Amino acid sequence: MSQSFAEPYPELLQQAAGLYEGERDPWANSANAAALVWERLPDLNWAGFYFLRGGGLIVGPFQGRAACVRIPLGQGVCGTAAQQRKTLIVPDVHVFPGHIPCDATSNSEIVVPLIARGRLLGVLDLDSPSYGRFKAADAQALEVFATRLADACDWRLAGIDGFGPG
Ligand code: SME
Repeated sequence: MSQSFAEPYPELLQQAAGLYEGERDPWANSANAAALVWERLPDLNWAGFYFLRGGGLIVGPFQGRAACVRIPLGQGVCGTAAQQRKTLIVPDVHVFPGHIPCDATSNSEIVVPLIARGRLLGVLDLDSPSYGRFKAADAQALEVFATRLADACDWRLAGIDGFGPG
């Protein structure tokens, strides 16, 4: 809690905490999380989630244009970040080997793994029409954002691999 972030992250984190309060549903909270990121962060053309189900990633709540539905682990920016459990900042998606183009206007991307109790849930994916839109400071703040979402939900309700129903 002692970490400080540049604008607009303090408001984003504060608003997210308010929305999650008293609510543990993964779809409700991740849908609001995607909407908040979309509303608060400038210069995005896609913001949302892919979740780990059936051994691969499947699209979850998002804002932006309709996107590819399934991404195998290890493929694209999302599948690579998920497999490595590591945030990936891609300043130019056109030179990322295996990048999966969902929206032709995307030029840069950041993908942050979502992890709860040491297990991968999926990823938070943000795209921008600007090259080099995402910096290390965005990664640091978005990792905190992702961790707080992961901690705010009961993932057994979401059918995510390794979390199971009920
Ligand atoms: N570009 C991503 C695919 C998801 S869309 O950007 C929404 C990738 O390479 O994994």
